[in-house]
Amino acid sequence: MGKTIDQVRPDLPHLVTELPGPRARAVIARDERVVSPSYTRSYPLVCEKGEGAMVEDVDGNRFLDFNAGIAVVATGHCHPRVVDAIQKQAARLIHMSGTDFYYEELVLLAEKLAEIAPGRVDRRVSFGNSGAEAMEGSLKLARYATGRDKIIAFYGGFHGRTMGALSLTSRKAVQRAGFGPMMPGVVHAPYPYCYRCPYGKEPESCAVECVKFIEDTLLKTVAPAQEVAAIAVEPVLGEGGYVVPPKKFFDELARVARQNGILLIFDEVQCGMGRTGRMWAAEHFDAVPDILAVAKGIASGLPLGATVARADLMTWPPGAHASTFGGNPVACAAARTTIALLEEELVENAARMGAHLMDRMLDWPDRFPVVGDVRGLGLMIGIELVQDQATKEKAPRLRDKVLGLAFERGVLALGAGDSTLRLCPPLVITRDQCDFAIETLEGCLKEAIAEA
Ligand SMILES: Cc1ncc(COP(=O)(O)O)c(C=O)c1O
Repeated sequence: MGKTIDQVRPDLPHLVTELPGPRARAVIARDERVVSPSYTRSYPLVCEKGEGAMVEDVDGNRFLDFNAGIAVVATGHCHPRVVDAIQKQAARLIHMSGTDFYYEELVLLAEKLAEIAPGRVDRRVSFGNSGAEAMEGSLKLARYATGRDKIIAFYGGFHGRTMGALSLTSRKAVQRAGFGPMMPGVVHAPYPYCYRCPYGKEPESCAVECVKFIEDTLLKTVAPAQEVAAIAVEPVLGEGGYVVPPKKFFDELARVARQNGILLIFDEVQCGMGRTGRMWAAEHFDAVPDILAVAKGIASGLPLGATVARADLMTWPPGAHASTFGGNPVACAAARTTIALLEEELVENAARMGAHLMDRMLDWPDRFPVVGDVRGLGLMIGIELVQDQATKEKAPRLRDKVLGLAFERGVLALGAGDSTLRLCPPLVITRDQCDFAIETLEGCLKEAIAEA
């Protein structure tokens, strides 16, 4: 206290009030009266503004954002080039509806996404406003293109909350309870090496078992092979706990899909757009989806989703699928600038900073008996907290305690899975910021262990 924000480093946290401060408390009290109680807030952060990887709250407290608005602000908060692109486009044309009229921003972004999508295949793009809509488009297209109705998804997966996407989502009962029945025709398989997977602990054999379950059980019982339109999978499990499957999983999925005329939908809503240190997570596994769902990081915070499909699949007729706001020119302009920044330097920075974070945390399981695992790709890192390493029993309360303490020390992180600390900072993060976050988290972990 006493120091002004200007007297301390602007790229690191600086707290000037108790948390939450008086203004934050007032906003939260009003929020509690009028905003849907279904929102899950992990701690009382009330944002006022953001710049790069820093966020300032309404009381002037500055935080280091290690969750990037839940893996959204890929280029950091309010990147000047993104802001400039948004302002210029907003002054030119805010809306016209790409469903009924033409504008070049939509075409330019579709061309770019078609160019950078994984695999050397011609692509077409359908736009929506969110990850859930990108998945809705993917599901509808898979059904339309194959004339089949069944979809195979994975336990622990999160694909959004609209009814089609929700039918695939199987992360937590609370996300589905009271909303049934779901869309018919969706069945689930275990996701390899995930906390809900019943198979062994060794990733490769586990991946083989998971696909075997699809082949030998699902396709031969509840989802006859000739009726399955698609297998929908997150290449890295996001909300389910930042789980990275082995390459074998994708090789096996591709084999089963090919042999049975089933399409592969990759949900890269969270793991795409450079987050894993490659533009697409699929690239780590040499895997190529038939349909790719993209959102979150695509437009640095403006609402946009895209279904990027093989051109020979996207043959639905006029009127079959569209969205009034999907591919809005301002969001498209933000997305094109985001992709340019990713290509120029940020994907590479994500790989470099991700490797640095991993290097510094790889010995945590040896140093802390409550750390079961540190895993991830690029800037998509999960730290699994457990009661003890032998049983691998989850430690959700310890995880939440660490998140709360980190907030009190100015570092914003979130959970994923049942007891994973999720690190997904903006791709502009610096080495000093990474070091600060690690040292803070380490301190919080020690304090939480001491208190437990
Ligand atoms: C992998 C994945 N798919 C889909 C979604 C849904 O995205 P949205 O919340 O934009 O609808 C999410 C959101 O967290 C996600 O992580």
